[in-house]
Amino acid sequence: MDRREFMTWMGIGGLATSLPVVLAACQSQEPAATNDTSADAPTADTGSAGSSEVIGTVADLETNGFLLKADAAVGPVLVVGTADALSAVNPTCTHAGCTVEWKGDQTLMVCPCHGSQFNSDGTVAKGPATEPLPTYAVQVEGDNVVVS
Ligand code: FES
Repeated sequence: MDRREFMTWMGIGGLATSLPVVLAACQSQEPAATNDTSADAPTADTGSAGSSEVIGTVADLETNGFLLKADAAVGPVLVVGTADALSAVNPTCTHAGCTVEWKGDQTLMVCPCHGSQFNSDGTVAKGPATEPLPTYAVQVEGDNVVVS
């Protein structure tokens, strides 16, 4: 094997060993698109059918003035109102993530951290929060309050 043949084989060998690295570097880094619609965070109430869950009873709602289920499968849920006019929101404050509290005497949800206030439908009544609380679809089924 003369010098020229040696260099040719070395070039082919180098190309062959570096090819996987070059191909990996040229692959797209973008994640594959998915059609996953089961995000944990609730979205605006669209009234669409999805997973639903009993949050409590109408009797408990009337007795306490609200229903709170922090570990609901759909996410944290706060239900306020009466059986005729219910509102269900994710009680996680949109300012910095504290859990809002229902103040029935003021008909407001108040954040204990920085004082944001939300109306019973989740809209902002007073900042610093600027975004409304996400809502859930809610209805009465028999004696149960159900969100989805
Ligand atoms: S976390 Fe609720 S007002 Fe700041």
